Amino acid sequence: MTTSAVSTFQAPKGTYDLLPPDSAVFLAVREAIAAPLRNAGYGYVETPGFENVELFSRGVGESTDIVSKEMYAFETKGGDKLALRPEGTASVLRAALEANLHKLGNLPVKLWYSGSYYRYERPQKGRYRHFSQVGAEAIGAEDPVLDAELIVLADQAYRSLGLRNFRILLNSLGDKECRPVYREALQGFLRGLDLDEETRRRIEINPLRVLDDKRDAVQKQLVGAPMLRDYLCDACKAYHEEVRELLGAQGVAFEDDPKLVRGLDYYTRTTFEFVHDGLGSQSAVGGGGRYDGLSEMIGGPSLPSVGWALGVDRTVLALEAEGVTAAVPATTAVFGVPLGDEARRVLFGTVTELRKAGVAADLAYGGKGLKAAMKAANRSGARFALVAGERDLAEGVVQLKDLDSGEQAPVRLEEIVTTVKERLA
Ligand code: HAM
Repeated sequence: MTTSAVSTFQAPKGTYDLLPPDSAVFLAVREAIAAPLRNAGYGYVETPGFENVELFSRGVGESTDIVSKEMYAFETKGGDKLALRPEGTASVLRAALEANLHKLGNLPVKLWYSGSYYRYERPQKGRYRHFSQVGAEAIGAEDPVLDAELIVLADQAYRSLGLRNFRILLNSLGDKECRPVYREALQGFLRGLDLDEETRRRIEINPLRVLDDKRDAVQKQLVGAPMLRDYLCDACKAYHEEVRELLGAQGVAFEDDPKLVRGLDYYTRTTFEFVHDGLGSQSAVGGGGRYDGLSEMIGGPSLPSVGWALGVDRTVLALEAEGVTAAVPATTAVFGVPLGDEARRVLFGTVTELRKAGVAADLAYGGKGLKAAMKAANRSGARFALVAGERDLAEGVVQLKDLDSGEQAPVRLEEIVTTVKERLA
């Protein structure tokens, strides 16, 4: 049967579908990031794909691009103002507060998550409107060990995948004592520069973001701008120094980046980004930091916290850029080739038995002839084919064919599972 009609619909702009075999790499990446977290006491959390829009405007910040330009916000028929989640931290903290996890006594509450996020961005390679993150949040403790732990775990995750050409950028954004002083000093400096209207507006709302401006003409003028590290209060300085020492002691290399500001407003003190040098302009494969004031910003008690999110899409691109093949679990090992109705019933039983025994098995469907069924077997990547025709069944056997060597031998029906398991071992 040939189908010439192509679907009229396509994946929306800025999105793409994950299909086999590439989708297996995505699963492997998610798993590789999750494994060190599970191993370090982080529990799995899942929150809805949408939230009250105000959670993000208050949490992530009204003046950020994420909230002001990139949010998929909408009103429901019932009049609720919602938004597709552009990130995970505000949602996870909301969920922890709502369930009173922070009152159960054991702080920090350590959680990890994996899911889809949505930002109305200008699409390009590595920047999508729908993307995947695996993230971790440690809620309710102020301890430099926690900041270091998270960075170490991300480093481990990337390394377990075989990634090498990534760098860790580290900075401190100060706290509610020292940052306002710095902010004012920076504003004073920026107001004296030759900048366009929009950037001038940004000086008043979010001056730190101006430091992040990618344009040469702006960067040139920023030489000599006051640097936050010169304004850090003693407590912030000591905290940051401790994080740096803890990382050094674990042998995790990082670069101090005094200009690293991040695109979300909730950060305080430790901020970091993982950048990969093979990705062009969308080089951040992950990022995070401390957000000691976020809980209060969304109506909760004081709960100093720290976390990160790693981008699954960009991690996959980084693996490609380094030419690393992620260890993808084996697919089909055995492929059934039934010739005739009786053989189909018998092999369906055999395949079911193999699957129960933990052997990945598949089958030719739709009454295919020998040639088409063998083609399907080869395409499946299976090690063995189980071929059965009427004569085989009459003798109580099926033919076990090694698809690598081409060798074939009859095996008694009741011995198939043991024989196949032995040969695969
Ligand atoms: P973020 O830096 O906005 O941080 O996103 C984290 C990662 O998600 C980025 O480094 C990138 O790999 C990926 N990402 C972001 N936007 C896109 C996009 N449009 N297309 C593809 N990948 C993208 C956060 O989201 C914070 N919630 C991280 C955090 C957790 N901070 C504290 N806890």
